[in-house]
Amino acid sequence: MTRVAVVGSANLDLVAHTPRRPAPGETVLGTGYFQHPGGKGLNQAAAAATVTPTSFVGRRGSDDAGRLLEAELVRRGVDTSRFLAMEGPSGHALITVTPDGENSITVLPGANYLLLPDDVTRALDVLAPQVVLTQQEIPLATTGATARWALTHGARLMLNASPSAALPEEVLAAADPLVVNLTEAHFLTATDTPSDAAKILAKQCVSVIITLGSDGSLVVENGRTTHLPAPRLTAVADTTGAGDMFAGVTAARLARGTGLVEAAHHATQAAAQAIQTPRSSR
Ligand code: RIB
Repeated sequence: MTRVAVVGSANLDLVAHTPRRPAPGETVLGTGYFQHPGGKGLNQAAAAATVTPTSFVGRRGSDDAGRLLEAELVRRGVDTSRFLAMEGPSGHALITVTPDGENSITVLPGANYLLLPDDVTRALDVLAPQVVLTQQEIPLATTGATARWALTHGARLMLNASPSAALPEEVLAAADPLVVNLTEAHFLTATDTPSDAAKILAKQCVSVIITLGSDGSLVVENGRTTHLPAPRLTAVADTTGAGDMFAGVTAARLARGTGLVEAAHHATQAAAQAIQTPRSSR
């Protein structure tokens, strides 16, 4: 039985570790190169599957990268019956990680951008999840169809509005919760103050989580704002995928009946553990 369906992207992450981020027009020598299965959808599905039965709805290419991405989801215990293969390249992400663990990411969507609204509604009809979790590395029309399916079938929609893109009002209105970081919150509200952004977004969505990195997160539900602090960490290996760990674990806890604040608390602990662990060992 599927409790969480993650509708989203799968990318092969091509990761360069560098002493610092290159400035425009500058070349820097890297210190290491790694490949990891990634994509916000795949990362979030893998995280959710550590807590509850999870299916992934997405598209991959017919290349080696696509086979590797599917194998990774299977290894992580995610149901891939709705991860469709198609001719052409899989999604890829070019990632630079600096010694402070921060990243810069360029995504080449490939097959992810061929995930169609019909693929999603057909898949969700069969999977009948309690919680649907989605992001924005798939076409906007597909995100819209995902939100509509959740609304009309009584499922809870969790929307991680990342990367930033203009969203129709009805999609935002269905989000319970909307999960954004500060940059994404600024894009949607034009304010840099987390508490102001939270108030604005809370009027547009059912519930909201703004993640604040080392400052934890703000959770707004039923007019009440809770600040959840993050654990103090001495070492950070790589922050890539920490937000996905947070989103996936929150969705899975919600599907198991946990309240939003407590679900986000568990997710904060999971994300803290992730960023102290090199990606190859997660
Ligand atoms: O959130 C991290 C993810 O963003 C990476 O795995 C990369 O593929 C991009 O989708």
